[in-house]
Amino acid sequence: MRQKIVAGNWKMNKSFLEAEELLDQIAEEQDSYEGDVQVIVCPPALYLELASDYAEEYPLFVGAQNVSQFVKGAYTGEISAAMLASMDGVTHCIVGHSERRKYFGETDKIIAEKIKILLSFEITPIYCCGETLEQRKKGVHLETVSDQIEEALFHLSNEEIENIVIAYEPVWAIGTGENAMPEQAQEMHDYIRRLLLDKYGNEEANNISILYGGSVNPENAKNIFAMPDVDGGLIGGASLNAADFLAIRDAF
Ligand code: 13P
Repeated sequence: MRQKIVAGNWKMNKSFLEAEELLDQIAEEQDSYEGDVQVIVCPPALYLELASDYAEEYPLFVGAQNVSQFVKGAYTGEISAAMLASMDGVTHCIVGHSERRKYFGETDKIIAEKIKILLSFEITPIYCCGETLEQRKKGVHLETVSDQIEEALFHLSNEEIENIVIAYEPVWAIGTGENAMPEQAQEMHDYIRRLLLDKYGNEEANNISILYGGSVNPENAKNIFAMPDVDGGLIGGASLNAADFLAIRDAF
């Protein structure tokens, strides 16, 4: 059975006090939650320790939004996988988000290195892929995503790939209020699963959770999560409000 996951990517939002308030609200609701959806919060790095404290007490997982591709040393401003791993509660890390590709020049080669380092510290990478509007209009969305996956993931062994979460995030749907139609998400998720199947075999392909991200909200989540190959969501804007975020969790 694939793990159902709802992960909140807070991006560069919230003051310390606001972060604490949001974590308080999410933790309180999680405390009495009896469902089978894994809830992950991915706050800015400064608040990872705070979030980890909540994760110790409540059924909540914590992910970072980024990690350095270097192991350690003179890389001013960077945070290493070892540092993330040294905070007990940090179990996941987003890599390859389209905003990092666009604004920080991240390539799938760099992302592949980050994934390798994360896995060596037993942190689960949440690998983001997805096409731009231009690529979709040109009809090259499937091959765009297949190239991304091949370059960033296919260096992994069968044992390693099982510890990856994939998030399909069409760039044109991120922060735009225009989510992919559930059928468009399903088409891509099914395609990604078939790529995994060809490379790694049936068992691995069927065990990897593939999340959808891009303008998911409490209204559209149910229809998107109803698709057979959508195993959850990576939520941006709506994860900044506890009620909306948890309503998305409950849309399964
Ligand atoms: P929105 O939910 O704000 O569209 O952001 C999606 C996203 O980028 C999550 O990583």
